[in-house]
Amino acid sequence: MRVLERLEELYAIGGGLGANRVGGSADEDQAHDLAAGWMRDAGLKVEVDAAGNLIGRSKKADVWTGSHLDSVPDGGKFDGALGVVAAIEAVERVGKGAVVVFRDEERGCVGSTAFVELGQLPDCFLEVHVEQGPVLERAGAPLGLARGIVGIVRGERVFMGEPGHAGTVPMGGRVDALVDAAEYILRVRDLTSAVDGAVGTVGQVYVEPGAANVIPGRVRVSVDVRAPDQARLDSLVTALELEPDFRLEPVPMAETPITALRDEIERRGLPVIELPSGAGHDAAVLAAAGVPTAMLFVRSLNGGVSHSPQEESSPEDVQLAVDVLTRALESLT
Ligand code: GLV
Ligand code: MN
Ligand code: MN
Repeated sequence: MRVLERLEELYAIGGGLGANRVGGSADEDQAHDLAAGWMRDAGLKVEVDAAGNLIGRSKKADVWTGSHLDSVPDGGKFDGALGVVAAIEAVERVGKGAVVVFRDEERGCVGSTAFVELGQLPDCFLEVHVEQGPVLERAGAPLGLARGIVGIVRGERVFMGEPGHAGTVPMGGRVDALVDAAEYILRVRDLTSAVDGAVGTVGQVYVEPGAANVIPGRVRVSVDVRAPDQARLDSLVTALELEPDFRLEPVPMAETPITALRDEIERRGLPVIELPSGAGHDAAVLAAAGVPTAMLFVRSLNGGVSHSPQEESSPEDVQLAVDVLTRALESLT
């Protein structure tokens, strides 16, 4: 199947363990070049917008579909890439619609945010994506529909200490920035655990001066918190004393494109599973800008692991997703 071959081609870029096409890298550029070639082969008119997003238009380009080609370091084969190759396939088959590849999704939906600021919005947007969780696998369902996408806030906290000699400063007199940061990280865990449906992660810790025999003088940590609604998100932002440098509002998906996808799933006699998305997506940025948007999830295997080379979906489920996207696109255009 061509879609699977293209996923392998994208996965080979960057080398290393897993997908390595971090936003802004030459590897992301290389993936965009590859996709631009596939769009041209599909007969689409290709352009790159002011933010570097790649767009391939058919002659009737009011309904758009696509995703992103950047990845986290050592990411999986399907995250983002599946939505792009499925979109090219569906638009080529239907001969209508447009494909979009947004830049730099993983570090904060950079391309899609710039895209909506440019103001030329599509009439409708569909994004195919791996579920990145265990719900569909547990339900025995190959496909699912996103009901909505969680709100996300990211920010940084900085802790200042008094750097000194690891051997001569007594324990009683120390101001160790890393100890304060560690206590804060435990607060992130405890406070988010206490809010239903919320999650919180510290994924980056920078210690200065960063030597084994020096008491840490400055520590910077990243914080990523997510919640299903604004009230819960705001309460965590306040409790964790965060100054957000990235915020994605929680958004529902739109009924018309959801119905087009649901009809196709039902027509095939498959179970219809609707679930919230705990991952952020370019689809959330478009939905928040008022574009009627829906997401089709593909079952993730291995317990739903994602952002990891263990990310897996079956060829049969991928094929089904491409077929459902194709028919939904046909009915919406
Ligand atoms: C993107 O994958 C995110 O949810 O952080
Ligand atoms: Mn993604
Ligand atoms: Mn991702």
